[in-house]
Amino acid sequence: MRDPMVIANWKMYKTLSEAVEFFTHFPAEVGKVSDVETVICPPFISLADLSRLVKNTSLILGAQNMHWEKEGAYTGEISPLMLQELGVKYVIIGHSERRNFFGESDRVVRKKVDAAFKSGLFPILCIGENWDQFNNGETKKILQEQLSLALEQLSPNNKLVVAYEPVWAIGTGTPATGEVASGVAGYIRGLLRDLWGEVAENVRILYGGSVNPDNILEFTGKPDIDGALIGGSSLKEKFLAQMVRAVSK
Ligand code: PGA
Repeated sequence: MRDPMVIANWKMYKTLSEAVEFFTHFPAEVGKVSDVETVICPPFISLADLSRLVKNTSLILGAQNMHWEKEGAYTGEISPLMLQELGVKYVIIGHSERRNFFGESDRVVRKKVDAAFKSGLFPILCIGENWDQFNNGETKKILQEQLSLALEQLSPNNKLVVAYEPVWAIGTGTPATGEVASGVAGYIRGLLRDLWGEVAENVRILYGGSVNPDNILEFTGKPDIDGALIGGSSLKEKFLAQMVRAVSK
């Protein structure tokens, strides 16, 4: 059984007061939905306050990134230990914006996934091809490379969540079709089966890239897609609530 997930990736949006404000408008009944794991990933600076606000709700906190060491001389970084203390459960790793704007390599991504497992956090590993690679029919090759490098020599772990996020669909208003996303999700599960055997059946696979209240079911309604990672549309209370309601049975 894989519980469906709706993940709000707020990226570098919302100051602390705006993040707190979001919760004053988010419908209380949606914050009690129990058959969908709703994960809010705000900027780091809001995690402490939000950890108090999500108490007594079914909402879960996630982080958008982390360092792989517990502590150390790494100016500007945040460790798994620090996230745990705030009640963070999930951490997005290897988002294409981190890979493209901050030079995060597959090696670094692997270290972070490993660190997440070791500290009991659930990594949301993002993989995806860019537009040229998509057009050249290289999607499978790219995903295979990214996934195998990110999980190299790691033991099977059903805490893993994989998000298929085609780079060309992120923030563009042009999502993949449900068919494409579902075919790719099935392919990813096959890769996981080859690597990890039966554990692959328990790993949740999400789609991300221009998901909104109108199209979310086109993705989450497919057998191998267990939820959505949402950027832009998750910033509005109303839209996020609509998406959680849509995915809930
Ligand atoms: P988007 O972003 O929903 O704004 O396309 C998705 C993501 O980057 O996770």
